[in-house]
Amino acid sequence: MPIQPDAAHQIETAEDVVTVRQAVRRRAVDLGFSLVDQTKIVTAASELARNTLQHGGGGSVAMQSLEQGARRGLRLTFEDHGPGIADVALAMKDGYTTAGGLGLGLSGARRLSSEFHIDSRPGEGTRVSIVRWR
Ligand SMILES: Nc1ncnc2c1ncn2[C@@H]1O[C@H](COP(=O)(O)OP(=O)(O)O)[C@@H](O)[C@H]1O
Ligand SMILES: [Mg+2]
Repeated sequence: MPIQPDAAHQIETAEDVVTVRQAVRRRAVDLGFSLVDQTKIVTAASELARNTLQHGGGGSVAMQSLEQGARRGLRLTFEDHGPGIADVALAMKDGYTTAGGLGLGLSGARRLSSEFHIDSRPGEGTRVSIVRWR
């Protein structure tokens, strides 16, 4: 059950990526995340927002606070209607990039998250959903 209203942000410019990072940080603080956990989810969000912009041609992120007994969590769902990823397993590998990047965004985001889901269809777009529990 959400304990704070869901929020959505567009990711269409580099400035939007900064705004998303700040909004995720604020939400993590409100949920009582430690500084380390804040940094983990902000870093993951930053990479995924950049992918949404650079590879997906822009899109959005939805933020949802989670409550499970005493546990508090934050779910972030990034969505775009860009080219999609032909081979998701390959894209998840450390160092794999099609854009001259470091290729550590997807794999890094997965390591920094408690839960990680990716769904991508060539020609339709990409959705990446992460959860970090406190
Ligand atoms: N939203 C997306 N839409 C299309 N392709 C993507 C998306 N996110 C990631 N990819 C693909 O996966 C590759 C790996 O992503 P990532 O690990 O973040 O590395 P980098 O962004 O440095 O290339 C990208 O180079 C790109 O080919
Ligand atoms: Mg990246």
